[in-house]
Amino acid sequence: MTSRFPRPPDSGSVHLWRGRATAAADPAELAVLATAELARFRAMVPAAGARYAGSRAAVRRILAGYLDEEPGRLVLDRKACPGCGSADHGPPILASPHSPLTFSLSRSGNDWLLAVSADRLIGVDLEGADAVDLELVSPMVMTPAELTAFRTQLDEHGRRRLFLRAWTRKEAVLKAAGIGLVAPLREIDVQPAVDRPVTVAHDSLVGAPAWVVQDVATGSADLAALAWQADLPPAEISWPGTALSATGWQQLAAGVS
Ligand SMILES: CC(C)(COP(=O)(O)OP(=O)(O)OC[C@H]1O[C@@H](n2cnc3c(N)ncnc32)[C@H](O)[C@@H]1OP(=O)(O)O)[C@@H](O)C(=O)NCCC(=O)NCCS
Repeated sequence: MTSRFPRPPDSGSVHLWRGRATAAADPAELAVLATAELARFRAMVPAAGARYAGSRAAVRRILAGYLDEEPGRLVLDRKACPGCGSADHGPPILASPHSPLTFSLSRSGNDWLLAVSADRLIGVDLEGADAVDLELVSPMVMTPAELTAFRTQLDEHGRRRLFLRAWTRKEAVLKAAGIGLVAPLREIDVQPAVDRPVTVAHDSLVGAPAWVVQDVATGSADLAALAWQADLPPAEISWPGTALSATGWQQLAAGVS
Protein backbone atom coordinates (compact mmCIF):
# COMPACT_ATOMS: atom_id res chain seq x y z
CA MET A 1 0.00 0.00 0.00
CA THR A 2 1.23 3.47 -0.79
CA SER A 3 0.04 6.90 0.21
CA ARG A 4 1.41 8.45 -2.99
CA PHE A 5 -1.31 9.70 -5.26
CA PRO A 6 -1.80 7.44 -8.30
CA ARG A 7 -0.20 8.49 -11.57
CA PRO A 8 -2.62 9.91 -14.14
CA PRO A 9 -4.17 7.37 -16.53
CA ASP A 10 -1.96 6.42 -19.46
CA SER A 11 -3.16 6.63 -23.00
CA GLY A 12 -5.52 3.66 -23.41
CA SER A 13 -6.59 3.45 -19.78
CA VAL A 14 -9.54 4.86 -17.87
CA HIS A 15 -9.49 5.40 -14.12
CA LEU A 16 -12.72 5.10 -12.16
CA TRP A 17 -13.30 6.59 -8.72
CA ARG A 18 -16.39 6.45 -6.62
CA GLY A 19 -17.39 8.04 -3.36
CA ARG A 20 -20.22 9.27 -1.20
CA ALA A 21 -21.03 12.85 -0.32
CA THR A 22 -21.75 13.66 3.31
CA ALA A 23 -25.31 14.55 4.33
CA ALA A 24 -24.35 18.16 5.07
CA ALA A 25 -21.80 20.17 3.11
CA ASP A 26 -18.31 19.97 4.57
CA PRO A 27 -16.57 23.38 4.95
CA ALA A 28 -13.29 21.81 3.78
CA GLU A 29 -15.02 20.86 0.54
CA LEU A 30 -16.62 24.26 0.07
CA ALA A 31 -13.16 25.82 0.52
CA VAL A 32 -11.88 24.25 -2.71
CA LEU A 33 -14.85 25.23 -4.90
CA ALA A 34 -14.81 28.13 -7.36
CA THR A 35 -17.15 31.11 -7.13
CA ALA A 36 -19.57 29.74 -9.73
CA GLU A 37 -19.69 26.36 -7.99
CA LEU A 38 -20.42 28.04 -4.66
CA ALA A 39 -23.19 30.06 -6.28
CA ARG A 40 -24.73 26.87 -7.64
CA PHE A 41 -24.35 25.17 -4.25
CA ARG A 42 -26.12 28.07 -2.51
CA ALA A 43 -29.02 27.98 -4.97
CA MET A 44 -29.74 24.32 -4.13
CA VAL A 45 -31.73 22.85 -1.26
CA PRO A 46 -29.21 21.75 1.43
CA ALA A 47 -29.24 18.00 0.69
CA ALA A 48 -28.73 18.47 -3.05
CA GLY A 49 -26.14 21.16 -2.35
CA ALA A 50 -24.15 18.77 -0.15
CA ARG A 51 -24.19 16.12 -2.90
CA TYR A 52 -23.10 18.67 -5.47
CA ALA A 53 -20.35 20.19 -3.30
CA GLY A 54 -19.04 16.80 -2.16
CA SER A 55 -18.78 15.42 -5.69
CA ARG A 56 -17.29 18.59 -7.18
CA ALA A 57 -14.70 18.81 -4.40
CA ALA A 58 -13.81 15.16 -5.04
CA VAL A 59 -13.38 15.81 -8.77
CA ARG A 60 -11.10 18.73 -7.96
CA ARG A 61 -9.06 16.73 -5.45
CA ILE A 62 -8.62 13.78 -7.79
CA LEU A 63 -7.64 15.82 -10.86
CA ALA A 64 -5.39 18.00 -8.69
CA GLY A 65 -3.81 14.88 -7.19
CA TYR A 66 -2.88 13.61 -10.65
CA LEU A 67 -1.43 16.99 -11.62
CA ASP A 68 0.21 17.81 -8.28
CA GLU A 69 -1.83 21.02 -8.11
CA GLU A 70 -4.00 22.71 -5.49
CA PRO A 71 -7.66 21.60 -5.95
CA GLY A 72 -8.90 25.17 -5.65
CA ARG A 73 -6.61 26.37 -8.43
CA LEU A 74 -8.08 24.12 -11.11
CA VAL A 75 -10.38 25.79 -13.62
CA LEU A 76 -13.31 23.52 -14.47
CA ASP A 77 -15.40 24.71 -17.38
CA ARG A 78 -17.70 23.40 -20.09
CA LYS A 79 -16.89 22.67 -23.71
CA ALA A 80 -19.28 24.11 -26.27
CA CYS A 81 -22.19 21.70 -26.79
CA PRO A 82 -21.32 19.55 -29.83
CA GLY A 83 -25.01 19.56 -30.74
CA CYS A 84 -25.73 23.29 -30.85
CA GLY A 85 -22.53 25.13 -29.88
CA SER A 86 -23.96 26.59 -26.65
CA ALA A 87 -21.50 27.06 -23.79
CA ASP A 88 -24.30 26.53 -21.24
CA HIS A 89 -24.75 22.76 -21.34
CA GLY A 90 -21.70 21.18 -23.00
CA PRO A 91 -19.57 18.49 -21.36
CA PRO A 92 -17.29 19.43 -18.47
CA ILE A 93 -13.60 20.07 -19.11
CA LEU A 94 -10.47 20.84 -17.17
CA ALA A 95 -9.62 24.26 -18.63
CA SER A 96 -6.52 24.91 -16.53
CA PRO A 97 -3.83 23.78 -15.99
CA HIS A 98 -3.35 22.56 -19.52
CA SER A 99 -3.55 18.74 -19.54
CA PRO A 100 -4.84 15.94 -21.77
CA LEU A 101 -7.12 14.66 -18.98
CA THR A 102 -10.81 14.28 -19.80
CA PHE A 103 -13.41 13.32 -17.23
CA SER A 104 -17.05 12.46 -16.72
CA LEU A 105 -19.02 12.64 -13.47
CA SER A 106 -22.30 11.08 -12.41
CA ARG A 107 -24.27 11.36 -9.19
CA SER A 108 -26.93 9.04 -7.83
CA GLY A 109 -28.28 10.02 -4.44
CA ASN A 110 -25.25 10.73 -2.27
CA ASP A 111 -23.02 8.50 -4.39
CA TRP A 112 -20.88 9.72 -7.25
CA LEU A 113 -18.79 8.06 -9.94
CA LEU A 114 -15.96 9.73 -11.81
CA ALA A 115 -14.13 8.49 -14.91
CA VAL A 116 -10.82 10.03 -15.99
CA SER A 117 -8.99 9.43 -19.26
CA ALA A 118 -5.96 10.87 -21.00
CA ASP A 119 -6.82 10.15 -24.61
CA ARG A 120 -10.53 9.86 -25.27
CA LEU A 121 -14.01 11.26 -24.93
CA ILE A 122 -15.72 9.34 -22.12
CA GLY A 123 -19.06 9.30 -20.37
CA VAL A 124 -20.23 7.59 -17.18
CA ASP A 125 -23.59 7.12 -15.60
CA LEU A 126 -24.48 5.77 -12.17
CA GLU A 127 -28.08 4.97 -11.21
CA GLY A 128 -29.56 3.59 -8.04
CA ALA A 129 -32.47 1.18 -8.01
CA ASP A 130 -34.94 3.98 -7.21
CA ALA A 131 -38.61 3.47 -7.78
CA VAL A 132 -39.39 4.25 -11.42
CA ASP A 133 -42.67 3.36 -13.07
CA LEU A 134 -41.05 0.93 -15.51
CA GLU A 135 -44.19 0.28 -17.56
CA LEU A 136 -44.74 4.00 -18.03
CA VAL A 137 -41.16 5.07 -18.72
CA SER A 138 -39.77 2.18 -20.75
CA PRO A 139 -41.75 2.90 -23.96
CA MET A 140 -40.57 6.52 -23.78
CA VAL A 141 -36.87 5.72 -23.75
CA MET A 142 -36.37 2.26 -25.30
CA THR A 143 -36.10 1.11 -28.91
CA PRO A 144 -38.54 -1.58 -30.12
CA ALA A 145 -35.81 -4.23 -29.77
CA GLU A 146 -34.96 -3.05 -26.24
CA LEU A 147 -38.65 -3.11 -25.31
CA THR A 148 -38.98 -6.68 -26.56
CA ALA A 149 -36.00 -7.70 -24.40
CA PHE A 150 -37.54 -5.80 -21.47
CA ARG A 151 -40.93 -7.49 -21.83
CA THR A 152 -39.50 -10.98 -22.08
CA GLN A 153 -37.93 -10.68 -18.64
CA LEU A 154 -39.66 -13.08 -16.30
CA ASP A 155 -40.01 -10.90 -13.22
CA GLU A 156 -39.90 -7.37 -11.85
CA HIS A 157 -36.26 -7.76 -10.77
CA GLY A 158 -35.21 -8.76 -14.30
CA ARG A 159 -37.20 -5.94 -15.90
CA ARG A 160 -35.80 -3.34 -13.51
CA ARG A 161 -32.25 -4.54 -14.10
CA LEU A 162 -32.63 -4.54 -17.87
CA PHE A 163 -34.22 -1.09 -17.81
CA LEU A 164 -31.44 0.36 -15.63
CA ARG A 165 -28.83 -1.25 -17.83
CA ALA A 166 -30.37 0.37 -20.90
CA TRP A 167 -30.68 3.69 -19.13
CA THR A 168 -27.12 3.82 -17.75
CA ARG A 169 -25.68 2.75 -21.12
CA LYS A 170 -27.67 5.41 -22.98
CA GLU A 171 -26.78 8.17 -20.58
CA ALA A 172 -23.09 7.18 -20.61
CA VAL A 173 -23.03 7.32 -24.42
CA LEU A 174 -24.88 10.63 -24.51
CA LYS A 175 -22.46 12.11 -22.00
CA ALA A 176 -19.43 10.82 -23.94
CA ALA A 177 -20.88 12.43 -27.07
CA GLY A 178 -21.55 15.55 -24.99
CA ILE A 179 -25.12 16.18 -26.09
CA GLY A 180 -27.12 14.90 -23.12
CA LEU A 181 -30.67 13.64 -23.03
CA VAL A 182 -31.98 15.66 -25.97
CA ALA A 183 -30.99 12.77 -28.29
CA PRO A 184 -33.79 10.49 -29.55
CA LEU A 185 -33.56 7.79 -26.88
CA ARG A 186 -36.09 5.54 -28.63
CA GLU A 187 -33.76 5.26 -31.63
CA ILE A 188 -30.45 4.62 -29.85
CA ASP A 189 -30.11 0.90 -29.22
CA VAL A 190 -27.69 -0.14 -26.48
CA GLN A 191 -28.52 -3.90 -26.49
CA PRO A 192 -29.24 -4.20 -22.75
CA ALA A 193 -29.71 -7.98 -23.00
CA VAL A 194 -26.09 -8.37 -24.16
CA ASP A 195 -23.56 -8.86 -21.33
CA ARG A 196 -20.40 -7.73 -23.11
CA PRO A 197 -19.43 -4.19 -24.27
CA VAL A 198 -21.54 -3.10 -27.25
CA THR A 199 -21.03 -0.61 -30.07
CA VAL A 200 -23.59 2.16 -30.45
CA ALA A 201 -24.06 4.45 -33.44
CA HIS A 202 -26.67 7.08 -34.31
CA ASP A 203 -26.63 10.27 -36.39
CA SER A 204 -27.29 12.39 -33.28
CA LEU A 205 -24.16 11.07 -31.54
CA VAL A 206 -21.76 13.59 -32.98
CA GLY A 207 -18.05 13.62 -32.11
CA ALA A 208 -17.21 10.05 -33.17
CA PRO A 209 -18.60 7.62 -35.77
CA ALA A 210 -19.54 5.16 -33.04
CA TRP A 211 -19.25 4.59 -29.31
CA VAL A 212 -18.49 1.57 -27.13
CA VAL A 213 -20.35 1.21 -23.87
CA GLN A 214 -19.87 -1.35 -21.13
CA ASP A 215 -21.32 -1.99 -17.70
CA VAL A 216 -19.19 -1.18 -14.69
CA ALA A 217 -19.41 -3.26 -11.50
CA THR A 218 -19.95 -0.81 -8.65
CA GLY A 219 -19.86 -3.21 -5.73
CA SER A 220 -23.40 -2.20 -4.75
CA ALA A 221 -26.95 -2.45 -6.08
CA ASP A 222 -26.32 0.60 -8.24
CA LEU A 223 -25.78 0.09 -11.94
CA ALA A 224 -23.18 2.01 -13.90
CA ALA A 225 -21.87 2.22 -17.45
CA LEU A 226 -18.82 3.71 -19.13
CA ALA A 227 -18.74 4.81 -22.78
CA TRP A 228 -15.91 5.92 -25.03
CA GLN A 229 -15.29 6.57 -28.71
CA ALA A 230 -15.14 3.35 -30.75
CA ASP A 231 -12.38 4.57 -33.05
CA LEU A 232 -9.84 3.91 -30.26
CA PRO A 233 -8.76 0.52 -28.87
CA PRO A 234 -10.65 -0.82 -25.84
CA ALA A 235 -9.92 1.05 -22.65
CA GLU A 236 -8.18 -0.69 -19.78
CA ILE A 237 -10.31 0.15 -16.76
CA SER A 238 -8.97 0.35 -13.22
CA TRP A 239 -9.91 1.75 -9.81
CA PRO A 240 -6.67 3.36 -8.58
CA GLY A 241 -8.27 4.69 -5.39
CA THR A 242 -8.28 1.22 -3.86
CA ALA A 243 -4.44 1.26 -3.83
CA LEU A 244 -4.25 4.36 -1.64
CA SER A 245 -3.31 3.87 2.00
CA ALA A 246 -5.44 5.27 4.81
CA THR A 247 -3.21 8.34 4.88
CA GLY A 248 -3.70 8.78 1.18
CA TRP A 249 -7.43 8.61 1.65
CA GLN A 250 -7.37 11.25 4.33
CA GLN A 251 -5.26 13.49 2.15
CA LEU A 252 -7.65 13.05 -0.71
CA ALA A 253 -11.13 13.34 0.76
CA ALA A 254 -13.38 11.64 3.23
CA GLY A 255 -15.50 9.00 1.55
CA VAL A 256 -13.62 8.62 -1.72
CA SER A 257 -12.94 5.07 -2.85
C1 LIG B 1 -25.83 15.46 -19.31
C2 LIG B 1 -27.04 15.03 -18.52
C3 LIG B 1 -27.62 13.77 -19.14
C4 LIG B 1 -26.61 14.73 -17.07
O1 LIG B 1 -27.76 14.41 -16.32
P1 LIG B 1 -27.80 14.41 -14.73
O2 LIG B 1 -29.13 13.96 -14.31
O3 LIG B 1 -27.31 15.70 -14.20
O4 LIG B 1 -26.86 13.23 -14.42
P2 LIG B 1 -25.47 12.91 -13.77
O5 LIG B 1 -25.47 13.08 -12.30
O6 LIG B 1 -25.18 11.53 -14.28
O7 LIG B 1 -24.38 13.87 -14.42
C5 LIG B 1 -24.09 15.16 -13.95
C6 LIG B 1 -22.84 15.62 -14.63
O8 LIG B 1 -22.98 15.46 -16.04
C7 LIG B 1 -22.00 16.31 -16.64
N1 LIG B 1 -22.60 16.92 -17.81
C8 LIG B 1 -23.45 17.96 -17.89
N2 LIG B 1 -23.74 18.23 -19.16
C9 LIG B 1 -23.05 17.36 -19.92
C10 LIG B 1 -22.92 17.14 -21.30
N3 LIG B 1 -23.57 17.90 -22.20
N4 LIG B 1 -22.11 16.15 -21.73
C11 LIG B 1 -21.44 15.37 -20.84
N5 LIG B 1 -21.52 15.52 -19.50
C12 LIG B 1 -22.32 16.51 -19.06
C13 LIG B 1 -21.58 17.33 -15.61
O9 LIG B 1 -20.28 17.00 -15.15
C14 LIG B 1 -22.56 17.08 -14.48
O10 LIG B 1 -21.98 17.36 -13.24
P3 LIG B 1 -22.17 18.83 -12.59
O11 LIG B 1 -23.63 18.94 -12.29
O12 LIG B 1 -21.31 18.80 -11.39
O13 LIG B 1 -21.72 19.82 -13.62
C15 LIG B 1 -28.12 16.12 -18.48
O14 LIG B 1 -27.60 17.22 -17.76
C16 LIG B 1 -28.57 16.60 -19.85
O15 LIG B 1 -29.17 15.89 -20.62
N6 LIG B 1 -28.30 17.84 -20.16
C17 LIG B 1 -28.89 18.41 -21.37
C18 LIG B 1 -27.84 18.95 -22.21
C19 LIG B 1 -28.53 19.75 -23.28
O16 LIG B 1 -29.34 20.60 -23.03
N7 LIG B 1 -28.17 19.48 -24.51
C20 LIG B 1 -28.70 20.22 -25.61
C21 LIG B 1 -28.01 19.73 -26.87
S1 LIG B 1 -28.41 20.81 -28.20
